[in-house]
Amino acid sequence: SKGEYPHYMLKEIFEQSTAIRQTLSPALSNDRLDESCLGDSASTLLDGVKAVQICACGTSYHAGMVGRYLIESLAKIPCGVEHASEFRYRSPVVPANTLFVVLSQSGETADTLAALRYAREAGYHATLAICNVGSSSLVRESDLSFLTQAGPEIGVASTKAFTTQLLALNIVSLFLARRNGLDPQVEADITNTSLKQACFAVDAALALDDKISEVAEQLVDREHSLFLGRGVMYPIALEGALKLKEISYIHAEAYPGGELKHGPLALVDENMPIIAAAPGGKLFAKMQGNLQEVAARGGQLFILTDKPEEFSTSHDCQVLTMPTVDEVLAPLVYTIPLQLLAYHVSVMRGNNVDQPRNLAKSVTVE
Ligand code: F6R
Repeated sequence: SKGEYPHYMLKEIFEQSTAIRQTLSPALSNDRLDESCLGDSASTLLDGVKAVQICACGTSYHAGMVGRYLIESLAKIPCGVEHASEFRYRSPVVPANTLFVVLSQSGETADTLAALRYAREAGYHATLAICNVGSSSLVRESDLSFLTQAGPEIGVASTKAFTTQLLALNIVSLFLARRNGLDPQVEADITNTSLKQACFAVDAALALDDKISEVAEQLVDREHSLFLGRGVMYPIALEGALKLKEISYIHAEAYPGGELKHGPLALVDENMPIIAAAPGGKLFAKMQGNLQEVAARGGQLFILTDKPEEFSTSHDCQVLTMPTVDEVLAPLVYTIPLQLLAYHVSVMRGNNVDQPRNLAKSVTVE
């Protein structure tokens, strides 16, 4: 039931700190991440892995894009990520010792399942499903599985399944990184100061709800919007845009900040709202430069950042202060306000938030 909440989506957004805690806890044993949570043969199968290929659809695909950054930066092995609906229609070359990873809330998405079956035939080293439904086809047909413990997700727009997938990808990245020279102290630090603290950072982001609602009021009558992020935040910009378009029906596009001047900057005028995810970190100054370009064209900026002092606020530049978190956790935490934004805009437009037009919760046909 929806309990005190008017919609399942809002309930599921607010369940995220619990979902994160419930997903992390079975993966820990004596305070350390234990890879047997992936299955009995996990250690043997992971030992030979030299590369990763991820396939998924929609929101799960965006999680996969974040996964690539995590795997390459922590485990230092190459990682590809592709829409499951496209993967088997090219002639993918199978590199030796490649782990094939599928991500899915439902575990029944037709294209993702077909990609998994294709990969098994094609001779990938091993398959891993990161999934929210333990009895699903994807889990049954994969060598290894990581179950996100988000609980049932009823709203068509995926929320808690996505953030628990991001947590799962952090964990799997560390399992691979262990085999590739990651300092055990760094693993312990990530586990203790990022993963175990994630639920608190999520709660801090949820506390922005009233402020997000004020931003939503300014977007409700728009027909277009632009989402920006760089590096590991680019997939989060894509996810923010997908959430907004699927439940508010406002056209939303997402770009990496550095791509603006290669085309989309032409769209920017005083009628264009731009939502930017700009956490402090190695790409912060680059992103700040990109946002100045947008401001110079009159765009209306809404900036999510933990460095509010770096921006001068005005009617055309509103800043929402985020908690400061490690780079590996920023995608998860910055997703929260973008989910809330899409939710509030959808409600204000009188849409059916939990059942947006033309969409189904589980896409079991191609
Ligand atoms: C968007 C959304 C969809 C799903 C996609 C894949 O909010 O929910 O894009 O992410 O249909 O579904 P799963 O994860 O069940 O494979």
